[in-house]
Amino acid sequence: MWGTDTLDTVMVTHKVAGKEYNIEYLRSNRGAETLDQWPGGRPSIAGLSILDVGTGDGKFVQDFDDPNTVKTYGQPKRVVGMDISLRKWQQSPKYKGRFIKGDGLNLPFEDNEFDIYYCIQGPLAYFTPRWVNDQGQEGGTPELWGKALSEAYRVARKYVYFTTTAKMDVQKYEELLKDPRFKVVHPTPEEREGRFGAQMIVLQVIKN
Ligand SMILES: C[S@@+](CC[C@H](N)C(=O)[O-])C[C@H]1O[C@@H](n2cnc3c(N)ncnc32)[C@H](O)[C@@H]1O
Repeated sequence: MWGTDTLDTVMVTHKVAGKEYNIEYLRSNRGAETLDQWPGGRPSIAGLSILDVGTGDGKFVQDFDDPNTVKTYGQPKRVVGMDISLRKWQQSPKYKGRFIKGDGLNLPFEDNEFDIYYCIQGPLAYFTPRWVNDQGQEGGTPELWGKALSEAYRVARKYVYFTTTAKMDVQKYEELLKDPRFKVVHPTPEEREGRFGAQMIVLQVIKN
């Protein structure tokens, strides 16, 4: 079922309203490989619970359980794929509890239910304020972004791991740096220097 793609990035230039935007996109269909961008090197996800928000075809959920992934990264305790629109096969009793229908703005989970909130090209990307799509339309609003991020904070015990689809507004990134609920562990301001888009964002959740 899995392709053999390895993790790499591609730089794409978008022209929107006469301006050029250079965006670095991650190319991988291997969920665990995205974790290699973890600060300080490859993590172990053994024993951790992971919520994949906006799971789509569920490829990352399945990858976290792939025997090769488990050999390299450890066996997670629980992996759940959630999406506002589930595929038919994901709704079969065989996948009960593994794929759950839900909205990123109102997660159907308890506080601190997962160690990692994981969202690749999902709602947190869509709701990034001033995200501009190829038609020049703005994607998110501060309210939608705030709500999606608060939900991520609520259900995650340790990390919020997400991608921005395109431009992450500099002001939003700086707000994250000051947000007392999180420590931005990737990218650091130095890593981000000179780059217009920050594709992978890893936030450590600060809770008492
Ligand atoms: C571009 S796909 C990404 C799928 C998968 N994460 C991947 O990278 O292959 C975006 C997914 O987000 C889901 N989505 C959009 N808005 C959502 C929301 N508010 N709550 C949950 N899922 C949402 C869509 O249904 C879609 O499956």
